[in-house]
Amino acid sequence: MIVLGIESSCDETAAALVRDGNRILASVVASQEEVHHRFGGVVPELASRRHLESIIPVMRQALAQADIGFTGIDGVAATQGPGLIGSLLVGFSFAKALAFSLEVPWVGVNHLEGHIHALFLEAQPPPCPFVTLLASGGHTGLYYVNSLMNMELLGQTRDDAAGEAFDKVAKMLALGYPGGAVIDRLSRQGNPDRIRFPRPYIEKDSCDFSFSGIKTAVGRYLREHSDRCTENVADIAAGFQEAVVDVLVYKLIRAARMKGCRRVALAGGVAANSRLRERLRLDAGAEQMEVYLPSLQLCGDNAAMVAALGYRLLAAGKRGRLDDDVFSRAG
Ligand code: KG4
Ligand code: ZN
Repeated sequence: MIVLGIESSCDETAAALVRDGNRILASVVASQEEVHHRFGGVVPELASRRHLESIIPVMRQALAQADIGFTGIDGVAATQGPGLIGSLLVGFSFAKALAFSLEVPWVGVNHLEGHIHALFLEAQPPPCPFVTLLASGGHTGLYYVNSLMNMELLGQTRDDAAGEAFDKVAKMLALGYPGGAVIDRLSRQGNPDRIRFPRPYIEKDSCDFSFSGIKTAVGRYLREHSDRCTENVADIAAGFQEAVVDVLVYKLIRAARMKGCRRVALAGGVAANSRLRERLRLDAGAEQMEVYLPSLQLCGDNAAMVAALGYRLLAAGKRGRLDDDVFSRAG
């Protein structure tokens, strides 16, 4: 069964074709970075307009890449939420209309679950059960994945998401938007130990996160130190990143231990962070845990993960209804 996945929850318009939930035939992601860059963040109204312009060309490109026509589509899946309402509406309505006209089944999928399903698109997917950290721009949580369709939320952020903290600190350091990848790159030239930012563990045995304190500490440091030479900015970036990575890795490994599980994984945009990937390999390796990392194209928003999850929902008999609506918040 070939499923067309559509993703438009934030500032990426994406379409993908996936066979049987595990083989990517095509995956196209159109980033809106140049639209939002000068505003230092996503402007919702501009995002939905750009989705409207991009959705058809992006889908056509995916069909061309997979070398199939409309008749090759057996089902459609689109992100239903969480995300920006105006952005979600474009992809979701498009998917409904397309499925209706092609007379194929369709289903709405949860974006967060989609990120975790990206792991099942890898050549070596993690066998269940495993514990995964899902860290993106809008969400940070720890999940115990019992089976492909059964995930238990163990804890989540009480304030900022990890990616949001990266983006806000990048903005403070005038590094532009989106900030995660820039901080990652710049940190390689910095000393992560010169400036020690706080590690907010909350209670050590809690699976919850809090990142707004690190962000505030960076702001305070900047106010107190006017010396913003390039070297110092790299050290600030590296010090901030190290603090976030310390907490993420500690909590992920601790959660796995708590569940008596020896497999850990990463998902979401922040899973692309090179220091996070390196540290997890080291620290989990020292605990004899197996580590599963999504390839870089599958960390950030994409439609292959939507098609993969959509396939499983459709195969389980789930169907969308024409009056289904999008939703902005998780839970
Ligand atoms: O999953 P995603 O593409 O979109 C959401 O669902 O939010 O995640 C985007 C987030 C952004 O905050 C971005 O700064 C962050 O992922 N990100 C990174 C890296 N690449 C993207 N954060 C840290 N290091 C990276 N290399
Ligand atoms: Zn996402």
